Amino acid sequence: MMDWTDRHCRYFLRLLSPSVFLYTEMVTAAAIHHGDSDRFLRFDQSEHPIALQLGGSDPVLMANATRRAGEYGYDEININVGCPSDKVQSGQFGACLMARPDIVAGCYRAMVTETDVPVTVKTRIGIDDQDSYEFLLAFVERLVEAGCQKFIVHARIAILDGLSPKENRTVPPLNYDRVYRLKQEFPELDIVINGGLSSIEDIESALLHVDGAMVGRQAYQQPYFLAELEHHLDPDAVLPERREIVERMLPYIDTNIAAGVPLNRVTRHMLGLFAGQPGARAWRRTISEQAHRDGAGSEVLIKALNAMPIAA
Ligand SMILES: Cc1cc2nc3c(=O)[nH]c(=O)nc-3n(C[C@H](O)[C@H](O)[C@H](O)COP(=O)(O)O)c2cc1C
Repeated sequence: MMDWTDRHCRYFLRLLSPSVFLYTEMVTAAAIHHGDSDRFLRFDQSEHPIALQLGGSDPVLMANATRRAGEYGYDEININVGCPSDKVQSGQFGACLMARPDIVAGCYRAMVTETDVPVTVKTRIGIDDQDSYEFLLAFVERLVEAGCQKFIVHARIAILDGLSPKENRTVPPLNYDRVYRLKQEFPELDIVINGGLSSIEDIESALLHVDGAMVGRQAYQQPYFLAELEHHLDPDAVLPERREIVERMLPYIDTNIAAGVPLNRVTRHMLGLFAGQPGARAWRRTISEQAHRDGAGSEVLIKALNAMPIAA
């Protein structure tokens, strides 16, 4: 999730859930081409399994980014056809590409020649007034023809003119049935549903219809949810204590600080760890007040733990 997640976030989430499939925030193919690609592409080996999400519509740039990603060992490359922001639309990629399936198919074909890992597509169920199953179907069919086998579908349309990206994640209503129908008609495809899943029950009921569930905001804002989910789906999986997760972050933080990463770049992802627990507010406050200070190190997390009741 752009502006929210990064490799530090994924390192932290991986401690909470050993098997969840993690996705990077969208990285544009142009940024990889023109910029310091290592900054965008490197990740810690513990983040596996991990997908790189690419944004773009130029097959040459998308193929080039896919080839570069190959040097890092991503487990999947995902094409973003879901982002509604103006910036993305002016670059002609993201959700507006739902209306240009040939372009996405062209990117797909160029990308698969550069990698052995699956190339997948994340899309909406429609855009603007193109809010029908047939529109989604035409898009998916074109990609299936090109060879795509896995789709992550955010189960609401994107309104490209008039709604902010934030509103585009809440205002258009969720329509899970449209995604379920896609799976019914293409049982051989790997269909992952996304949008508004915030409880174990939500996920279990979605999994009765589709192959997977992608969780965005809930996983970021209440990261311990991932640990509970993993434990629920696999009761043999150990449910880690929240405090233990903090302790396991300390060496990672020390290494990153030694490499010049400011403390709050890592700890900002940990603010929600104790959400709903006694002392959650003290945890957040200590970190928010102290992690940005010059020279702040992992001792801030110890202080934040000590500011909480012992049972948390
Ligand atoms: C801050 C923020 C940034 C996001 N950035 C991306 C992104 O880079 N790529 C993407 O496919 N979706 C992005 N999304 C959308 C989420 O992946 C997801 O589709 C959406 O939030 C609905 O799922 P949820 O209800 O589980 O959060 C972003 C969402 C948020 C809140």
